[in-house]
Amino acid sequence: MIKNIITIGGSSSKNSINKMLAEYAGELLKNVTLTKVDLNEFEMPLFSVDLEKEKGFPKGVLELNEVIEKADGFVISLAEHNGAYSTAFKNVFDWLSRINGKVWRDKPMLLLSTSPGIRGGQSVLNIALDRFPFNGGNIVGSMPFPSFNENFKEGEIVNSLLKDNLQMLVDQFEKVI
Ligand SMILES: Cc1cc2nc3c(=O)[nH]c(=O)nc-3n(C[C@H](O)[C@H](O)[C@H](O)COP(=O)(O)O)c2cc1C
Repeated sequence: MIKNIITIGGSSSKNSINKMLAEYAGELLKNVTLTKVDLNEFEMPLFSVDLEKEKGFPKGVLELNEVIEKADGFVISLAEHNGAYSTAFKNVFDWLSRINGKVWRDKPMLLLSTSPGIRGGQSVLNIALDRFPFNGGNIVGSMPFPSFNENFKEGEIVNSLLKDNLQMLVDQFEKVI
């Protein structure tokens, strides 16, 4: 059966480099249906326990939860803001975790991060590597992608080492979905 793979850029930026990278990696997969998630399409207010109590779950959270429910695996690339998740991603993550603590449902995940800096979002990647397993994260491969603007041009990875590393991770991921 054709697998349904969700790509997510952990950012609300319209021109998110993480969304670009997650989709690039997803497109390397053979024989899958890709569902490309843009966090901007799932509107939700800033999480608060009071709001949750008073109004329940926003439509955008319920819709995204359904998308996740139907997934066979995830390719996620996280944006790094001040060494941590972007506010947009953390907000989505918090809301989703209130519906089901196993946000990622133990489904295989390829976890990436990128930034214009030389560490490529290594700090946020470490946070997620540490945390996601507690939320049903089944991370089968991970990689920070450094200096995005130098290494990714016109929709292509121009650094052969990074390109080979990512392809290797995608091949591994493909075997377990
Ligand atoms: C508030 C803020 C904080 C940032 N902090 C970091 C950081 O800690 N490390 C880093 O590598 N880049 C940092 N950046 C730069 C982001 O990596 C850059 O904006 C990148 O494009 C974000 O990914 P996105 O395009 O997917 O949103 C920061 C950017 C903003 C706006």
